[in-house]
Amino acid sequence: MEKQTRLGKTDLYVNPIGLGTNAVGGHNIHPNLNDETGKEVVRTAIDHGINFLDTAFIYGPERSEELIGEVLKEKGCRDQVVLATKGAHKFVHGKVVFDNSPAFLKAAVESSLKRLQTDYIDLFYIHFPDENTPKDEAVGALKELKDQGKIRAIGVSNFTIGQLKEANKDGYVDVLQSEYNLLKRQAEKDLLPYTAENGISFIPYFPLASGILAGKYTKDTKFEGSRAKNPLYQGETFIRNLEKVDKLRAIAEEKGADVAHVVLAWYLAQDSIDAVIPGAKRPEQVVDNLKTLEVDLTAEDVQNISEIFK
Ligand SMILES: NC(=O)c1ccc[n+]([C@@H]2O[C@H](COP(=O)([O-])OP(=O)(O)OC[C@H]3O[C@@H](n4cnc5c(N)ncnc54)[C@H](OP(=O)(O)O)[C@@H]3O)[C@@H](O)[C@H]2O)c1
Repeated sequence: MEKQTRLGKTDLYVNPIGLGTNAVGGHNIHPNLNDETGKEVVRTAIDHGINFLDTAFIYGPERSEELIGEVLKEKGCRDQVVLATKGAHKFVHGKVVFDNSPAFLKAAVESSLKRLQTDYIDLFYIHFPDENTPKDEAVGALKELKDQGKIRAIGVSNFTIGQLKEANKDGYVDVLQSEYNLLKRQAEKDLLPYTAENGISFIPYFPLASGILAGKYTKDTKFEGSRAKNPLYQGETFIRNLEKVDKLRAIAEEKGADVAHVVLAWYLAQDSIDAVIPGAKRPEQVVDNLKTLEVDLTAEDVQNISEIFK
């Protein structure tokens, strides 16, 4: 088995290379997804020792959880996987609103359990903050579910530093999931220092900045779906980002690795980042991302990469 890392202060141990699954059944996020390919992505991950799966109610909605549930049942491997999901999205007259009320979160966990065809969720995140619920009350509801054995660890996602501190008043937050990548580094100002000081695991989402940090795009690449609207992919900004990726390519070549592997290894070199969850649309990408575990970055490499993207 690959090296296993502990997630913060939890009793969950994972391969540091996890799998983000918003492209598994996430028809509302990516155009032209095929459910069978999505299931094959999940099977491939499990067959290659990836045991940390990241999904959410809203991926689909519901479909990503359902497909993962089907694969885990088919393979009979629920106990070998650390399953993370998220809830907070609610549809009101066809529009999404966020709800962190204890009643909503408890109902969200119950419905995720059904779709995932399991009786416990390893890590349940409040996906987005709402405006009204005190965050320690919201986390208190998850603590009750943890005490009942329905979830094993408590996560929050997309919280500001103020919301995170309020959520963690009683020290119950195990994991924070936030956007963080070499092209978006605001988390270094407050969230990352707080998680490091408080034994909270930090899971960066969009680790490959939706693909640009995998080093395969050129200035002529055309995008559709969410990437077509992503500010990192627009005009001059996109060209500057490609130039930075080219500098990184030189470092990757020295290491005998690809850009994506060096990028993922760079996150894992940071305090409190115990695991990464790159997304994948094809089984080959899942296998490819595992090469990250072979990349050895020195402190100087980490610093040089940081400078390129400053
Ligand atoms: N908490 C939240 O609010 C939140 C928000 C967003 C995402 N997430 C989580 O974070 C995960 C990761 O985010 P993401 O998937 O949107 O973005 P990402 O990991 O930054 O980028 C994933 C994309 O990069 C490309 N890729 C992946 N591996 C590659 C490889 N080895 N070589 C070349 N290209 C590769 C694929 O796109 P192409 O094949 O199309 O190029 C893939 O869809 C999600 O799946 C989800 O679980 C959470």
